[in-house]
Amino acid sequence: MKIPMLDLTRLHKPLLHDFKKAFTEIMQTSQFIGGRYLADFETAFAKFCGVAGCVGVANGTDALMLCLRVLGIKSGDVVIVPALTFIATAEAVTLLGATPRFVDIDPLTYTMDPMALAKVDTQGVKAVIPVHLYGQPVDMDPILDLARKHHWAVVEDCAQAHGATYRGKSIGSFGDLAAFSFYPGKNLGALGDAGAIVGDDVEKLAIVRRLANHGRLSQYEHLEPGINSRLDALQAAALLLKLPYLQEWNARRVKNAELYEKYLAPADLVLPHVGFHRTHVFHQYTVQVKNRQLLTGILADANIGYGTNYRIPLHLQPAYAFLGYQKGDFPVSEQLAERGLNLPLDPTATEEQIRRVSEVVCQNV
Ligand SMILES: Cc1ncc(COP(=O)(O)O)c(C=O)c1O
Repeated sequence: MKIPMLDLTRLHKPLLHDFKKAFTEIMQTSQFIGGRYLADFETAFAKFCGVAGCVGVANGTDALMLCLRVLGIKSGDVVIVPALTFIATAEAVTLLGATPRFVDIDPLTYTMDPMALAKVDTQGVKAVIPVHLYGQPVDMDPILDLARKHHWAVVEDCAQAHGATYRGKSIGSFGDLAAFSFYPGKNLGALGDAGAIVGDDVEKLAIVRRLANHGRLSQYEHLEPGINSRLDALQAAALLLKLPYLQEWNARRVKNAELYEKYLAPADLVLPHVGFHRTHVFHQYTVQVKNRQLLTGILADANIGYGTNYRIPLHLQPAYAFLGYQKGDFPVSEQLAERGLNLPLDPTATEEQIRRVSEVVCQNV
């Protein structure tokens, strides 16, 4: 039995007819940029997140960068980023000429540690980016308190947690602005690159929309130099058609995570932990294993997909060597980078598949 990490072909099968219908309509009208699918998706996604507005952009990295830019982050500013996340979180900062300052993650939930944040050097800090990593919301209250105290802007990185909640509210509704990625493998994925910015500040969202469209005021007038980062109509249509399934797909991820918890109970592993007041949407099911190399070899031989992101935390990446961090600076991030293993967690996975993965893991740790 071959068990992939994620089977998008199977996930998309029931949607093929609707995709075809929407794409044919777009081809017939040639409305590839803007149009009703974009407007409808933006309205539906803002409603889904419980916020006033949404602006579709080309990808999640641009979404983060545009959030920071519209909140006034510029060259010379410092932005706090967790040491363990996808590099895009920090790239958004460096793209603006600002400097990331890393903090460690919480050992139980793997999201930004509010206690570490409280101890960070605040010199030059203008913003913080909590990342809802692997599908689990960050403990937002203490982070929002610190941000208020120090007058930091808050940009939520929601790329991995579409639909997760904190104290009953959807992620994306806590920060000054929030950035989503719809990279195909995300809980809500497009059929290529795509992203969005959501929030309640409609004035800032209007500026984001302008910046993402070359700073354009009208066809021939540009207020400021912007970029080209639009969500195109084909991607917006695919996202609009997939959005109604998101809650059900997330529920299936949660159910499969519960099955892992049951079947992996005898194994010598650290299983995921869900923090208080949160719902986790299991973008990844990440366990910690002492001898990861041995186990990944066995999984590969057994035709079982796995992931080991992120093997190098950001403070030890060559790209950020210029910041001068050392090994040992963020021990929790370093341990997860060394021991973290993502097991297949596909909304279409069957109980038999989860049991098979669990058996192979239990026999080999
Ligand atoms: C945590 C996080 N932030 C940002 C991004 C960037 O998104 P994109 O790949 O759409 O640019 C990703 C996506 O991979 C991510 O996982």
